[in-house]
Amino acid sequence: MNTPAVLSDQIDAANPTAIIRVENLCKSYYLDGANGKSVELRVLIDINFSITSGEFVAIMGHSGSGKSTLMNVLGCLDSPSSGHYWLGQQDVATLSNDALASVRNRQIGFVFQGFNLLRRMTALDNVAAPLLYAGISRKAARQRAMSLLEQTGLDSFAMHHPNQLSGGQQQRVAISRALVNQPQLILADEPTGNLDTQTSHEIMLLFDRLNRESGITIMIVTHEDDIAACASRLIRLKDGRIIEDAATRHRQNHAMAARQ
Ligand SMILES: Nc1ncnc2c1ncn2[C@@H]1O[C@H](COP(=O)(O)OP(=O)(O)OP(=O)(O)O)[C@@H](O)[C@H]1O
Ligand SMILES: [Mg+2]
Repeated sequence: MNTPAVLSDQIDAANPTAIIRVENLCKSYYLDGANGKSVELRVLIDINFSITSGEFVAIMGHSGSGKSTLMNVLGCLDSPSSGHYWLGQQDVATLSNDALASVRNRQIGFVFQGFNLLRRMTALDNVAAPLLYAGISRKAARQRAMSLLEQTGLDSFAMHHPNQLSGGQQQRVAISRALVNQPQLILADEPTGNLDTQTSHEIMLLFDRLNRESGITIMIVTHEDDIAACASRLIRLKDGRIIEDAATRHRQNHAMAARQ
């Protein structure tokens, strides 16, 4: 019997619009201990959840609780030690390295705390880069990249290099890049961690708009309560386990306050 397929069918029945489903997901690292023996560091322990397409989810937890590790697994940048992960209908464990690279390029947009822009490239070419990797011509890629920069209000900065942009502008370039292949899912690991309060709110308004208007599923790691309040659901980790998974009540209020 093909066990993963059966489990997948059961989860599908419970939540047919799930974009992410994880079941008993565990991740351990093995470190060199005394006497040459390796020591298991359990970083994610029996993680179970399902994310419906269009949700806006915040991940919180103390430093070292496993938030980035979880995002890396969900982003197919790292693999779990055990358990199951379905991205849409795909059992990620069955994908080849080429298929995983394609998933990362086309289905997921990544946004990081440090922006991770290529400093020798203009904003326009940073945004166009994932399209070039996907095999699209440079001219078409630049046209599409420009339309994304227009959407994020940065078209007049298209020819600037990252060091000629503010932190908030750099993050908007990074968000434009994350969106350029029209992913279903944005994974953002502390995207406002390097930004001041006002700029953080502007970035969160942008995520809010993308989620509401385009229906993109967003998962965001944050240490800030008011950033998490932009999300409609909060998952809290402690020592690698989920200790809270609940709807937030503040989203509407936050969005309205930030617009004033
Ligand atoms: N490649 C690795 N090898 C060994 N241990 C690791 C590795 N990556 C992470 N860890 C450990 O896993 C645990 C969780 O790390 P992770 O980066 O997921 O935490 P985090 O919740 O994102 O923390 P922060 O809020 O500081 O970013 C930490 O104890 C960390 O030291
Ligand atoms: Mg982290």
